[in-house]
Amino acid sequence: MTILVTGGAGYIGSHTCVELLNKGYDIIVADNFSNSHPESLKRAAELTGRLFRVVQLDLQDKCQVEELFSENEIESVIHFAAFKAVGESMKNPLKYYQNNLAGTMVLLEAMDRFNVKKLVFSSSATVYGKEADIPIAEKEEIGAANPYGRTKQMIEEMLNDLFQSDPKWSIAVLRYFNPIGAHKSGRIGEDPSGIPNNLLPYIAQVAIGRRDQLIIHGDDYETKDGTGIRDYIHVVDLAKGHLKALEKISYTPIYETYNLGTGKGYSVLEVVEAFQRACGRPIPYTIGTRRAGDSAVCYADATKAKNELNWAAAIEIDEMCEDIWRWQQQNPEGYASVEETAGVKEATGA
Ligand code: UFG
Repeated sequence: MTILVTGGAGYIGSHTCVELLNKGYDIIVADNFSNSHPESLKRAAELTGRLFRVVQLDLQDKCQVEELFSENEIESVIHFAAFKAVGESMKNPLKYYQNNLAGTMVLLEAMDRFNVKKLVFSSSATVYGKEADIPIAEKEEIGAANPYGRTKQMIEEMLNDLFQSDPKWSIAVLRYFNPIGAHKSGRIGEDPSGIPNNLLPYIAQVAIGRRDQLIIHGDDYETKDGTGIRDYIHVVDLAKGHLKALEKISYTPIYETYNLGTGKGYSVLEVVEAFQRACGRPIPYTIGTRRAGDSAVCYADATKAKNELNWAAAIEIDEMCEDIWRWQQQNPEGYASVEETAGVKEATGA
């Protein structure tokens, strides 16, 4: 049984590949490496001692995608491949609609044609509207506030329509809260290109000396210390949630949506403190203005995943920060410090 992992070289994708390989699944990774590095897959192979096929392709390339399905016995798909930067999506919405929607359409058409109807889809808590009750449960109305989030929302709707039209489809939609952390080995982790938008990669780069200081986007929210509150979840816990979802869709055809979060919220200042404990250095920061589109508080009601997937996040915030710090120290420039990546195909047996 082979699982196709689209976007498997990315941050969440590579950690999920490791968990799948460790559990004995055979996988094929399809990635265009537009925002990821083949080195992550080489390291996933090293960490697990498993070989797997890597195909460099863009999901919008219909011929290549169909070839992939005709040449391999694919049982299920975990679909990560997408652009994901909120700010960029606001500046260049068409890039996001084109890549995320068109790529998914081609994938779904090929799955349909080759009778591969089991899918785990990588969605986001960003699909929830601003009015959602906290903690946010899956039943809350969706209403994403930016083009990136709307691509996820539209794909969710597309998938629901597909299931209604043909109940042989079996689909789990996973809405992630704020994935952070890195593999315990320090070999794979988050490697943002350019200036990080997200809090933890930014703090880690301040700690290692690549950036001078953190700018906290507002301390006048109605929260305990005035800074924004989020549900930070360790990427390995998140990856394990995908395996549970994969099991679930395999038993019987379903269309279900699950929040993957811890159910706990931490403020920006609490995260800064946790990171300082992990790295043993001060993190200089200044207070800036609010960032457009940010909400004050966002954390999950993760009860449904616990009850139906038998999954719950286990790793606490201090350990999340320790793992990021290990990854950051071992890879100060991310995967860019690696010169030779051409070996990835041999290492992974492609
Ligand atoms: N923040 C700062 N300074 C920074 C970066 C972030 O103060 O330099 C603050 C933000 O204002 C927010 C918190 O840190 O209060 C977290 O911000 P992130 O950018 O790390 O994460 P977001 O919650 O804004 O968004 C993330 C992902 C989205 C995803 C969403 C899910 O970037 O893709 O979580 O809820 F959709």
